[in-house]
Amino acid sequence: MSYEIQELLNPTDEEIKLFSSIEEECFNEDEAFSDEDMPALVRGSQIKLLIYEHGNLCGYLLGRYAFGTAYLYSIAVLPFHQGKGVGRALFEQMKHYLFPLDCKVITSHCGVENVTSEKMHLAFGFTPVGYEPDFYGDNKDAVSWRLEL
Ligand SMILES: CC(C)(COP(=O)(O)OP(=O)(O)OC[C@H]1O[C@@H](n2cnc3c(N)ncnc32)[C@H](O)[C@@H]1OP(=O)(O)O)[C@@H](O)C(=O)NCCC(=O)NCCS
Repeated sequence: MSYEIQELLNPTDEEIKLFSSIEEECFNEDEAFSDEDMPALVRGSQIKLLIYEHGNLCGYLLGRYAFGTAYLYSIAVLPFHQGKGVGRALFEQMKHYLFPLDCKVITSHCGVENVTSEKMHLAFGFTPVGYEPDFYGDNKDAVSWRLEL
């Protein structure tokens, strides 16, 4: 598949709505970032990627970076496009972004019940390094992950 990845610097309100639309379709209502939270989440992330196939929106990645360590803040691929390498393409672009910054580590979290995300982290080379009770609130626990680049 051939994908086009858009790296956003100063996203417009319309572009932020695209992140919200993906979020809405990919996460349960009680897990999704709200439309109210999304502008700050997107604008506060140094790495903000949207991915398209033949002009059709497929997914997003949000990442942060400081002092040699990056954080995979959120990644989501629309259901129709899942399992076809879109998530991997986004993650490769994140690593490409980090390469000149001499980043040595990427960390991440995922819900303990999110089996697909767990498989994705393992496939991307992450190692589980911790268990964080109530990380997401409402007694929702997280696994923490670390990848040495
Ligand atoms: C998790 C998610 C981003 C993966 O994106 P994707 O485009 O489907 O992933 P890819 O096709 O690039 O696959 C990457 C790896 O994930 C794993 N994976 C993806 N879909 C899977 C599935 N349905 N079952 C098992 N493993 C799966 C595979 O190990 C795969 O590795 P491989 O390429 O060596 O086979 C996507 O499923 C999604 O948006 N899920 C809902 C939102 C979510 O849970 N986000 C993660 C929050 S931490």
